[in-house]
Amino acid sequence: MNRCTLTITMLGLCLSQAVQGRGGTMSEKNASSPAGVTRAEFGKTAEGTPVELYTLSNAGGMTAKIMTYGATVTQLIVRDRAGKTGDVILGFDNLAGYLANEPYLGAIVGRYGNRIAKGKFTLKGATYTLATNDGPNHLHGGLKGFDKKVWKAEPMSTPDGPALKLTYVSKDGEEGYPGNLTSTVVYTVTGKNELKIEYTAKTDKATPINITNHAYFNLAGPGSGDVLGHEVTMAADRYTPVDATLIPTGEIASVKGTAMDFTKPATIGSRIAQVKGGYDHNYVLNMEVSKAPVFAVRVREPKSGRVMEVLTTEPGVQFYTGNFLDGSLKGIGGAYKKHYGFCLETQHFPDSPNQPRFPSSILEPGKTFHSVTVYRFSVEK
Ligand code: GLA
Repeated sequence: MNRCTLTITMLGLCLSQAVQGRGGTMSEKNASSPAGVTRAEFGKTAEGTPVELYTLSNAGGMTAKIMTYGATVTQLIVRDRAGKTGDVILGFDNLAGYLANEPYLGAIVGRYGNRIAKGKFTLKGATYTLATNDGPNHLHGGLKGFDKKVWKAEPMSTPDGPALKLTYVSKDGEEGYPGNLTSTVVYTVTGKNELKIEYTAKTDKATPINITNHAYFNLAGPGSGDVLGHEVTMAADRYTPVDATLIPTGEIASVKGTAMDFTKPATIGSRIAQVKGGYDHNYVLNMEVSKAPVFAVRVREPKSGRVMEVLTTEPGVQFYTGNFLDGSLKGIGGAYKKHYGFCLETQHFPDSPNQPRFPSSILEPGKTFHSVTVYRFSVEK
């Protein structure tokens, strides 16, 4: 983010500006956008569909860049203890980085985020077969999930702050799922230094749904190495153990006395060596499913002083520590190596369509899916 764009945008005067990204020149226009929102062209997909990049800023120095491809947050800029702004998520400054096969950086995953065992489920007497794109299982919506679709964008001014509404219509049978499903994601950069994400969806046939955001955070900022020194606290006494292919066994186990326990603050690195492959688990949040987001996770990064709190209406959160990052991706800040970012994907539990004991992830026609997650930023002195 450059200071000029932010300042000019806040004055509502920005007419055009050229920003040089690695993929080429982007032109920023702000002719008719609501206050705190600017729009830029961000290149085209392989099929030639134009992609837009929106910038949402508040007066406190927080900025989110969100593109229409995958409804992806490409940058999230917040202040550190010294007041210096920095990007706290992994991402690219050009579309080409996202079009190459990459592990869902900042994207919306769906129709069903996380795994469905063997890519199969039965609903209302019919068996559905989905792509198996993660070993024997289905992952994050399939071969061309919501992260690879171009969403329709509508910038908005809301009482909470500048917002962007993104809509995608997934056709009946797309990736094997039943029903025409219209999903909307509204991102808001609030005056309280929060990125609020509100999801809604409607269908015309019963379907599983589990949409979430797959941002990889590193609160120390770009180029700062691994996240093992980040300290995590979770309102989760239990988690869902998994088999060797990361499908829940069905058991809901206590974290007590294990390396899974973050009920008291602990750094990610303190016990990660005891967790085969690193953390990639669904935590069962303690709260009852609630209409208003409630506290789920707090992460503190000692060097920058940045603190992130996650609040959600969802019953679970996937804590993933970038175990599959191997240095081959080069994004903002350099190569993304193992454990250079962590994800907190608020969600219904993995494989819920095949697990009768888990909270249901089925959306019925006539009902509205609604889910809210807030990533709240502050600093510790
Ligand atoms: C999710 C999964 C991980 C991995 C990443 C993408 O977080 O739980 O196992 O597949 O997505 O690499």
